[in-house]
Amino acid sequence: MHISASPDPAKVLIIDDEIGPRESLRMLLKPSYQVHTAENVETGLQLLQEKRPDTIVMDIRMPGMNGIDGLRKIREIDPHLSVIMFTGFGALETAQEALRLGANDYINKPFDAVQMREVISRNVERTRLQRQSEATAHEVQELNERLRNELAQKERLASLGQASAEFVHDLSNPLTIVWGYVQILAKKLEHGDGNNGLQPTSSPRELQIIEQNVRLCRELLTMWQSYGKVGAAKTKPVSISNIVQDVGKSVSGMASQNGVQLDCHIADEECIVLGDPIQLTRAVQNVIVNAIQAATDKHGKVVVNCREKDLYADIQIRDTGYGIAENEIGKIFDPYFTTKQGKNGTGLGLYITKKVIDDHNGSIDVKSTLGEGTTFTLRLPLHDR
Ligand SMILES: Nc1ncnc2c1ncn2[C@@H]1O[C@H](COP(=O)(O)OP(=O)(O)OP(=O)(O)O)[C@@H](O)[C@H]1O
Ligand SMILES: [Mg+2]
Repeated sequence: MHISASPDPAKVLIIDDEIGPRESLRMLLKPSYQVHTAENVETGLQLLQEKRPDTIVMDIRMPGMNGIDGLRKIREIDPHLSVIMFTGFGALETAQEALRLGANDYINKPFDAVQMREVISRNVERTRLQRQSEATAHEVQELNERLRNELAQKERLASLGQASAEFVHDLSNPLTIVWGYVQILAKKLEHGDGNNGLQPTSSPRELQIIEQNVRLCRELLTMWQSYGKVGAAKTKPVSISNIVQDVGKSVSGMASQNGVQLDCHIADEECIVLGDPIQLTRAVQNVIVNAIQAATDKHGKVVVNCREKDLYADIQIRDTGYGIAENEIGKIFDPYFTTKQGKNGTGLGLYITKKVIDDHNGSIDVKSTLGEGTTFTLRLPLHDR
């Protein structure tokens, strides 16, 4: 096979101290290859590093470092590169010695042009194949590594799935009891209860928040139990403005207990999106709770904004908390990534949020400065726009 000139011609390096064979070989190869020449091994080794040839043709007998020593050095630099030894007549033993030391071929001087072209072409191809299979092996190794990681993560999620099934089962009973008592308490307050000295009144704000959140827990459990069943996902037009406002109200107690100032600004123009209200509540709640947790140590501030922007509902959660380190920002949506070890962090909050937002064809963006604070922006396409 003869390699013709292409946008990326193969490179041949000729190392020979004799100008005659060196230049005639250059003339022979020039039409098909990019040819580099060196008159001693030292210059040849330098060109090897600079030009990365596909084949070397090297004389054995040279003043200074000879071809055999040169071959040893070349093998240290590039074990896969084809090296053809150029030998004088009657130097068969040295040629054999060179082959034993890892030369790939040899050719006698004076050379036959047809044979020389054939040997070069074969060796160029050989180097290229070697390099290609090396690159492929590297890619396969990387792919394997990635698959192993993904599998480990899937196994972790699967075992968590089993544990959650048991957990959800046991959680629904006490929750139903709490739900029942919240209802009883609300009724008692409404009608008054002489025995306890309670006067008739509507449910106070605190009780409404408890009721709202117990309901959310029950709905989450129901959703979990029907997970994977056909028709489980219910999407409908929902007011994300109301959801953000309700979440803001329900976490306001947590914020004030932690000395964090929480401000919610909901634009008058209501943002309606198509989706599942429970899922969206989870998504927003995780981000706001994180922001409050981040701002707690500094007694900082959390500002939530919900407004319409470019056909999207734009929900921004800005905190003046501890911020996120640059090398961690790419990991925060990974399941189980948490910096709250020992503080009950599971590292699932943002993973869930991202999944919910993706399911609703939205996007989530984060900007953070370590020590100064973080801004999360959730965007959800507006319904009927
Ligand atoms: N507002 C924020 N400020 C600083 N760091 C944050 C913020 N939000 C998230 N993070 C970082 O991202 C990590 C992952 O958040 P995520 O909500 O997924 O898990 P978590 O809060 O650690 O645990 P969980 O939500 O399960 O209680 C956090 O541990 C924290 O390091
Ligand atoms: Mg969290």
